[in-house]
Amino acid sequence: MSNQQEIRVFAPATVANVACGYDVLGFAIDAPGDEIVVRHCQKPGLHISLITGDDGKLPKKASENTAGVSALDLLKHLGMSDRGIEMEIHKKMPFGSGLGSSSASAVGGVFAVNELIGRPLSKKQLLPFAMAGEASADGAWHADNVAPCLFGGIVFIRSNEELDFAQIPAPKNLWAAVVHPDIEVLTKVAREILPKEIPLENATQQIGNLGGLLCGLIQEDYGLISRSIHDVIAEPRRQKLIPDFYAAKRAAISAGALGFSISGAGPSVFALCEGEEEAHRVADAITKVFEKIPINSQAYVSRINPNGVHVIS
Ligand code: HSE
Repeated sequence: MSNQQEIRVFAPATVANVACGYDVLGFAIDAPGDEIVVRHCQKPGLHISLITGDDGKLPKKASENTAGVSALDLLKHLGMSDRGIEMEIHKKMPFGSGLGSSSASAVGGVFAVNELIGRPLSKKQLLPFAMAGEASADGAWHADNVAPCLFGGIVFIRSNEELDFAQIPAPKNLWAAVVHPDIEVLTKVAREILPKEIPLENATQQIGNLGGLLCGLIQEDYGLISRSIHDVIAEPRRQKLIPDFYAAKRAAISAGALGFSISGAGPSVFALCEGEEEAHRVADAITKVFEKIPINSQAYVSRINPNGVHVIS
């Protein structure tokens, strides 16, 4: 048993897909993020004692809760299912937001418990357990939120099945403007509207853009990044779930964004920008479009978060 009696962790929001990398590319931002607290207790098993910020929507039964599922899977793997652990979940971002809310809980839950019991596994070894937690929420198996939430930075996943991934360096002056309009899009619905087959021409364009984006990030070539952030597969179908999506896109590009698309399954949108000032200007321009509809929104301006989930106390 570790000497630490209580651990509080922060698990950040993430932007999945990054336009042309559907299910295979994502990055972490500094805020918002979920906080998970775990402590030892006498009663055997994992117990969720408190959930805040969820409007009473999340199940308290550990085996039905994203954060609980990932932690339970880890404890089972270690033969420690009887260990008495109490968990608090403080949701700091909305569900169905496209900000990786369920991934943050899945990652936060397993990471916090791993720390509490003396860190038997590395972050890399925690990935499959976090994936199981995330899959319990949306039924799909993709690491483009979970991996950046766990490791930080920009993560490219070559294979979700094999969990073969690589961290991509973030250019020093790359900033993200992420805006969440106050509407809910269910990931399940946003996945169902995607086509099962795509024309070869679109596949070729998307592969070109993804390769271009990865090269642009590695070479710090902002022009190449800008030319590459285009999604010809998911965005044309999903944009209809986001009011005035193309007006927001035009506003972001006019305000100087390198590129703009949907964050994960939406409704949040994101823009990549060269510089902090530009990112603030772009966030304001996007927010104004939603204001006009009128839809309230929250804007987050952030560098690429290099740390991912971490202990805060
Ligand atoms: N890659 C996923 C999607 C992210 O676009 O459906 C949402 O969880």
